[in-house]
Amino acid sequence: MVTMTQDAPLLLRAARGESVDRPPVWMMRQAGRYMKAYRDLREKYPSFRERSEIPEVAIEVSLQPWRAFGPDGVILFSDIVTPMPGMGIDMDIAEGKGPIIHEPLRTQAQIDALTPLNPEESLPFIKTILKALRAEVGNQATVLGFVGAPWTLAAYAVEGKGSKTYSVIKGMAFSDPALLHQILSKFADAIATYVGYQIDCGAQVVQMFDSWAGQLCPQDYETFALPYQKQVIQKVKQTHPDTPFILLVSGSAGVMKQMAVSGADMISVDWTVDMAEARAILGPDIGVQGNMDPGVLFGSKDFIRDRIYDTIRKAGNHKHIMNLGHGILPTTPEENAAFFFETVKQYRY
Ligand code: CP3
Repeated sequence: MVTMTQDAPLLLRAARGESVDRPPVWMMRQAGRYMKAYRDLREKYPSFRERSEIPEVAIEVSLQPWRAFGPDGVILFSDIVTPMPGMGIDMDIAEGKGPIIHEPLRTQAQIDALTPLNPEESLPFIKTILKALRAEVGNQATVLGFVGAPWTLAAYAVEGKGSKTYSVIKGMAFSDPALLHQILSKFADAIATYVGYQIDCGAQVVQMFDSWAGQLCPQDYETFALPYQKQVIQKVKQTHPDTPFILLVSGSAGVMKQMAVSGADMISVDWTVDMAEARAILGPDIGVQGNMDPGVLFGSKDFIRDRIYDTIRKAGNHKHIMNLGHGILPTTPEENAAFFFETVKQYRY
């Protein structure tokens, strides 16, 4: 068999630690509300579940930023809660609010009633979407899959919606931890299955979002987040050892050391940590993604350029994917998003 490494797209090569002449670039939430094309399409398909589960629509949304800016990564348009109905957890995604779980998961009987995830059956649109994205971008870009991590999905399932305080799930964690551990373990199994499925369907790099794990103190992170991140990553690596795995925690400055032992190949760093410091903590073997503050895109072009160069220099010329530290904000001028992509694509180490 001929090795395809030379033909592999830039982002995949960088994620594997191969030598590249500039960092690849994509943006979390690059498909979404800051783009007029997305807002127009949203009028036609007002329900998020339609936009993400009707393959032609989801494919179109994923490709909007690809056509507009030519990023090195094209991410599946979906949501972290998308697999929940396949486990028996009904959900919706409300305009401006995010996920809503109509019957929050809080009792032993509800946990016992959860079903193992069979992606082929409950998420049939994923295969169509990922295959179409691969066909569309060819070797010009890398197709990314993604999932939510057990703690973050459990936070939605137990709280019933997004939260500022996480009072319900923390209440469970600190008064009935055995109940929560069962939930986390079931999510870990389902998510690992789902990641493997996305890779089988064409995802070349996968990212796991533990968006709300930064709400835990380091000690509790080690009890409720880290072991289940590891469970997912170990299970995926058993069957798909060569697919780069990126881990994101939002507000991660205090848990960098713990993230480094999750088994992830790359850590998505947010702007609460200086990129040079993140590199020093993570060591030479782990790659980094990020970490520009999305708010920088409200600044002048000169300011944006300076911050891009600063980030790239601090990350060094090895195993770095340029990105924001978290998702692009909905009111960002599209022109500044375009400038972000152009500036990185013109950079040379
Ligand atoms: O990055 C991409 O372009 C892919 C799309 C993507 C979406 N959700 C689409 C979406 C990704 C990667 C996600 C992941 C996701 N969903 C996360 C992890 C990433 C993170 O931000 O930490 C989380 C926590 C969720 C849960 C969720 N879904 C939230 C918090 C919201 C936003 C609520 C709001 O309206 O501000 C959603 C809805 C959602 N998912 C939107 C998009 C583009 C916005 C709603 C819309 O466009 O109609």
